[in-house]
Amino acid sequence: MKGVIFNFLENLIVDKFGDKILEEIYAAAHFSLDAPPFVGPETYPDSDLFAMVILLSEKTNLPVDDLVYEFGKYMFPVLADRHPVFLDNVNSPIEFLKSVNDIIHIEVKKLFEGANPPIIKIEDVNHRQVKLYYSSERKLCKLVEGLLDGVADYFGQKISYSHQQCMRDGARECILHIQFYD
Ligand code: HEM
Repeated sequence: MKGVIFNFLENLIVDKFGDKILEEIYAAAHFSLDAPPFVGPETYPDSDLFAMVILLSEKTNLPVDDLVYEFGKYMFPVLADRHPVFLDNVNSPIEFLKSVNDIIHIEVKKLFEGANPPIIKIEDVNHRQVKLYYSSERKLCKLVEGLLDGVADYFGQKISYSHQQCMRDGARECILHIQFYD
């Protein structure tokens, strides 16, 4: 995973739990490379990111899934702020979600050598409902859920979603059924 994602996680930890916890995590973690510092454009093993989240969970007594969800929700407005071009002239969250796979993550791969974003496909059910297909060997569908709530907040719209199938239960991909409300 790109260093920039590690940096977002570091910011979340400091913002929500304080810099002392981040220092404790660094002291306890057995990172595979000579890091920190994590440098934005560099690539680091996913296992280092997961190790940080597991230590954060141990130190805060919050479940890993909840922390990964919060990470997604925290991360979206930061991504949107850093890359406003991806939100220019985008009028709805559905339109935006449809651009993630074929525009945004394609640009991400050009911008960051070695980036390996997931596959995210959107299929219309009707004008207020879509199915989101997610697949990644990282199985970070809780991150997707947090990002989705971040996107809904950004557009000022209410959403609900449910997992129809999940990679973590052995499915080939996750399918989230998403409902948008006015
Ligand atoms: C401005 C918008 C966005 C930008 C700039 C962006 C950029 C990125 C970047 C840089 C990564 C790291 C890739 C790597 O290190 O290999 C990433 C990963 C990821 N992105 Fe996006 N992203 C955006 C929006 C979204 C949205 C809206 C979703 C889902 C609804 C999403 C889902 C994910 C997931 C789940 C990952 C984690 C990697 C994985 O699951 O394998 N992204 N994105």
